Amino acid sequence: MKATLCTHYGPPEEMVVQDVPSPSPRKDQVVISVKACGVNFPDVLMIQDKYQFKPALPFSPGGEIAGIVKEAGEGVTAFKPGDKVIVSIGSGGFAEEAVADAARCVPMPANLDFAVASSFFVTYGTSFHALKDRAHIKPGESLVVLGAAGGVGLSAVELGHTMGARVIAAASSKEKVDLAKKHGADDGFVYPTGALSRDQQKALSEDIKRLTGGNGADVLYDPVGGDYAEPALRAMNWEGRYLVIGFAAGDIPRVPLNLTLLKGCDIVGVFWGASMMRDPKTGIANLTQITNWIAEGKLKPHVSERIPLARAGEAIRLLMDRKAQGKVVVVM
Ligand SMILES: NC(=O)c1ccc[n+]([C@@H]2O[C@H](COP(=O)([O-])OP(=O)(O)OC[C@H]3O[C@@H](n4cnc5c(N)ncnc54)[C@H](OP(=O)(O)O)[C@@H]3O)[C@@H](O)[C@H]2O)c1
Repeated sequence: MKATLCTHYGPPEEMVVQDVPSPSPRKDQVVISVKACGVNFPDVLMIQDKYQFKPALPFSPGGEIAGIVKEAGEGVTAFKPGDKVIVSIGSGGFAEEAVADAARCVPMPANLDFAVASSFFVTYGTSFHALKDRAHIKPGESLVVLGAAGGVGLSAVELGHTMGARVIAAASSKEKVDLAKKHGADDGFVYPTGALSRDQQKALSEDIKRLTGGNGADVLYDPVGGDYAEPALRAMNWEGRYLVIGFAAGDIPRVPLNLTLLKGCDIVGVFWGASMMRDPKTGIANLTQITNWIAEGKLKPHVSERIPLARAGEAIRLLMDRKAQGKVVVVM
């Protein structure tokens, strides 16, 4: 079978397509004929040796797949060859076949195509865990989403809207803010790119306050970090929850802790992958709920690009260059 491999750390253009042996299932595992694989920012980080999980070289990136069960290992009763499934596997998805724990697989709804099915576990899983389990968001609260047209950002917009929040989308272009509005954001604003000056940081805080009726954000969803974090924290409401999702801007911000005291607000860490391992029951229940909402049409994951396996590096490049909107998917 063919796989796109990272053989050494570096840019996505240096990944290679190779023939590799088909995997075999161990006990409680299935082998899946991969049809599509969603691309996420951790893929960008993993191929550069900047991610917390470090698969041994050579490895195939790609953490979430949709496909057809090819072979079920000993002890697997929930799935049989021919079943369509979705599963998050961490890495190994840029390949024609991948192995997964059967307990982590969810049946794929009949009305989804493979690309859409492979596009939402990581993003919507992260955002649902963040908003429901970590922020305990309530209907009527304001939710400000930075990077609102990116993978996790757009999923937070849709889920926040579905959960009854008033959603404010913040992104680096009008086109991105407009996409977030199409997916349920009530309002939004454009922020600048590059290193932010003091005035630009102040303007970002003011935009959040202006669009939240002067109160500040009840919940702030931050997958961007960098220069955007401190001004966003300065615009929190009393008892607000600031969700630390990621650092797509590159720098891990260091913020003055007195801001949390002054606002009586919480800075809340979110690590979906670890939460799935520590509490798989809640994690799978969350993914099942999301899958049902998508099958019912209540949530509409946005797949902006479908890129063939042989050009999988281009998919990662789109995220690196801040050009991806919603999800980019590699198709087999
Ligand atoms: N905590 C968790 O459990 C968890 C789970 C999944 C992902 N994450 C993290 O969440 C972050 C976003 O992941 P994603 O898959 O949604 O990525 P994505 O689709 O590429 O979205 C990232 C967004 O960040 C913004 N951004 C700002 N500066 C950027 C830069 N220099 N390069 C690229 N993007 C930049 C972009 O929006 P604008 O152009 O509008 O600013 C972009 O849309 C990553 O840090 C990832 O590791 C965390």
